[in-house]
Amino acid sequence: MAVFDQIEGLQDDLRLVDVYVDEYLHDESGHTGLRSVLNEINATGGKKVRPMVLLLAGRFGPKWPGCRERLCKMGAAVEMIHTASLIHDDIVDDSPLRRGRQTVQSKFGKEMAVYAGDFVLSRIVYYLFKEASTEAGMLLAKTVEVMCYGEIGQLARSYDTETTIEDYLSNIFGKTASLFVAACAIGAMESGCGEKTSMLLRQIGEHIGYLFQLRDDLLNVTSSARQEGKPVHSDFMNGTYTMPIIHALHHPAGRRLREVIHTIGTGAAVSWEVEEEIQNIVNSSRGIEFTRETIDAHAAQARDLLESLPKVPVRQGFLEILDLLAAG
Ligand code: FPP
Ligand code: MG
Repeated sequence: MAVFDQIEGLQDDLRLVDVYVDEYLHDESGHTGLRSVLNEINATGGKKVRPMVLLLAGRFGPKWPGCRERLCKMGAAVEMIHTASLIHDDIVDDSPLRRGRQTVQSKFGKEMAVYAGDFVLSRIVYYLFKEASTEAGMLLAKTVEVMCYGEIGQLARSYDTETTIEDYLSNIFGKTASLFVAACAIGAMESGCGEKTSMLLRQIGEHIGYLFQLRDDLLNVTSSARQEGKPVHSDFMNGTYTMPIIHALHHPAGRRLREVIHTIGTGAAVSWEVEEEIQNIVNSSRGIEFTRETIDAHAAQARDLLESLPKVPVRQGFLEILDLLAAG
């Protein structure tokens, strides 16, 4: 995409992130099952949004471009945390598809998927020690802890029609925004940013994290399976009530939604008539608009914060990337 090419060297840096991910996941144990999973991880590849945010944040400090290589190594570690978390998330959600492909758990079985996720985590720990990245290592360990809290908080609220927007926001901070905050913090730290710039970058990371998860959750309610590469309404069916649903639950129309949910029970397949009724309730409560407005509010706050950062060359490109992330 044009904006990515405009930021001098960003594509090269992202390629170097891939090189480090490959190196860090290299395995010569001879376990062909593990080899197949690692090949699958490699082939599936993500959008590398988290390393990209880390690389962008890393251009605001005085050590850039000297710290470039290190930023790419840290970007690889952050991407691998994301990969491990998705492998484990797909086990928990029993998801058949991700990014239009079979998930590790559905292709290789849950046992193999658990071990593969653990393997990826072990390599992150090893390479962070090898790079003597104590600060980044401590930060990332704490972040994984917070990601677990987010997931545990979400689990605690599963199928809970009394859950609130505050619960939801706290959970998505943990499961998603925290890793974006860490990506920005590491970019700032490795490039030698002062406390004020670092703080602004971390806040920007937080807004990006929120808008990213909100957008993902909204798509699960509004898009077709073909667009998303995974089943639609799967969050709802799995008992994970996201912003559009929670908004509807606390709206006058929410009474009917509660009745529908209680009739369905947990884990049951839902007819398309019921699905349509749920969709109508969400539409009439303006749950989708409310979620879109919240996404726009996070994008606007991130934009304001970005505009108060030092005017380094990457700032304009970062603003444009932010618009792309908010638009989806
Ligand atoms: C996807 O959410 C999942 C996450 C963003 C975080 C998952 C975190 C953990 C499993 C805990 C940390 C564990 C490790 C190994 C680092 P989603 O289900 O809403 O999104 P999806 O629609 O993409 O599945
Ligand atoms: Mg999931």
